[in-house]
Amino acid sequence: MSENTPIPAASCVLVSGGSRGLGLELVKDALAGGAKVATFARTVTPELEQLVADNPDHVFVGPVDITDEKAIKTFIKDASAKLGPIDALVNNAAIGQDSMHLHTSPERIDQIISTNLTATLVLTRAFLRHAMAKSGRGRIINVTSICAQRGYAGLVAYSATKGGLDSATRALAREMHGRFLVNSVAPGFFASEMSSVLGTEQLSTITRRTPTGRLVEPENISPIVHSLLFDDTNMNGQVIVVDGGGSI
Ligand SMILES: NC(=O)c1ccc[n+]([C@@H]2O[C@H](COP(=O)([O-])OP(=O)(O)OC[C@H]3O[C@@H](n4cnc5c(N)ncnc54)[C@H](OP(=O)(O)O)[C@@H]3O)[C@@H](O)[C@H]2O)c1
Repeated sequence: MSENTPIPAASCVLVSGGSRGLGLELVKDALAGGAKVATFARTVTPELEQLVADNPDHVFVGPVDITDEKAIKTFIKDASAKLGPIDALVNNAAIGQDSMHLHTSPERIDQIISTNLTATLVLTRAFLRHAMAKSGRGRIINVTSICAQRGYAGLVAYSATKGGLDSATRALAREMHGRFLVNSVAPGFFASEMSSVLGTEQLSTITRRTPTGRLVEPENISPIVHSLLFDDTNMNGQVIVVDGGGSI
């Protein structure tokens, strides 16, 4: 197939960190879009178990720590043996931060970078090696954050990982020469286990500063990811912000 024909819609999507929050929403949305879905997290939640029970031939889940490269490779092998070749990756798994840089231990900094940046790049490499050997074409979406573009106290290492991923998005889009569309989706704050550390006062300040007057919800983000997975957008190497205009 010529390289300048549109990338086909995703048929089998790997979503990292699909056990809850935005990841779970993205798993359900990709499934509703007609794709098969493989997803992992350290803990397989009852919600994920139910999805497998309801869609036994279309969903594959497993307990995997993204920092364990061997487990990642085994997961891709097992998932593709069950669902068929994986042609799209949504890098969603991440851990948060709620500590001033001065008071964040080197070990914690390392854990945030290892999980959010290093492991995500290693997973991306494993996915690409799998997908290049199959159809050789596909889509990658990195879930980053508005923190990569604006400064937020208490999120130094976390912001560094998200900025790093946005940069990687552009470089990888170039490297793949259009065989894989690579984009970032950068949400503003939304309610989840990760953001539960934010107090009511912080949340109302963010809401007040947001022109739309409301926080983002996972349901606002999934249509953008959906389009990047399924539509012929010809969008490549971009960072799409979904934050109600809070950062403008
Ligand atoms: N919430 C926000 O305000 C906000 C704003 C902008 C961007 N984001 C981004 O949106 C994405 C989803 O965030 P969320 O708020 O939905 O977070 P969340 O509710 O904390 O979910 C994070 C997911 O990642 C998984 N995960 C974390 N560490 C992992 C590891 N070592 N190995 C495998 N899986 C791991 C978690 O499962 P386990 O813990 O069981 O492993 C869970 O499934 C993240 O990339 C986050 O940075 C969030």
